Amino acid sequence: MDGNGRWATRRGLPRTAGHAAGARAVHRVIEAAARGPIDALTLYAFSSDNWSRPAGEVGNLMDLLERYLVAETDRCIANGVRVSIIGRRDRLRPGLSSTIGQTEALTCEGANLRLRLAIDYSSRDAIALAATQPPCSTGTSRSAFAERLAASCNTTATALDVDLLIRTGGERRLSDFLLWECAYAELVFVDTLWPDFDEDALIEAMRQFRQRERRFGGLEPAHAGNLR
Ligand code: FPP
Repeated sequence: MDGNGRWATRRGLPRTAGHAAGARAVHRVIEAAARGPIDALTLYAFSSDNWSRPAGEVGNLMDLLERYLVAETDRCIANGVRVSIIGRRDRLRPGLSSTIGQTEALTCEGANLRLRLAIDYSSRDAIALAATQPPCSTGTSRSAFAERLAASCNTTATALDVDLLIRTGGERRLSDFLLWECAYAELVFVDTLWPDFDEDALIEAMRQFRQRERRFGGLEPAHAGNLR
């Protein structure tokens, strides 16, 4: 969700105003996703590397996340949105940790949309942690490792492969986001700054996704037929 800072700077506002506008965009996009054909949505709210930002900005983001969860839990329940958090929890302030626990418990029956917020999340840390776990009875298949990886992200949500990854704000990187899960993700990069991202932008990204030919390393059916 890139571009909050630039959105604010362009308006002569502090970066905190950009993050607040970003939170409003989060609200819009979750509502749109819950209405549409999306089964699961993961939003990268705070990476483990974001701890290196100035303490004031980090504190503001933590406040915003906590306030957002408190304010939106009832609406998530009403819209059938099941919220879970992926990432480390041991470095979060106690108030945010307990709010996360409450939101996860209160929304656990939601069946319309699985919403995952990545907070203090690093894909490389999660993979490294999962790799150090002893082998389990289900073996070391890809799917067994994916389950172990989900557990290493401290989430009760099951492992998910990413179909479509959208990055806003003109950046063209993965930035340590769901690296294993994005093995066959379709990537859509948009210049729109996150606070300006809305339902139309989401629909446009899904339109691009539908035009992609997903072969997962195989051949498109017509060519496969020719080679038989
Ligand atoms: C990165 O772009 C954005 C973040 C580190 C924070 C994302 C947070 C939100 C969208 C709001 C809170 C989230 C929720 C779930 C309520 P940047 O703002 O650093 O962008 P820049 O490249 O323009 O500086």
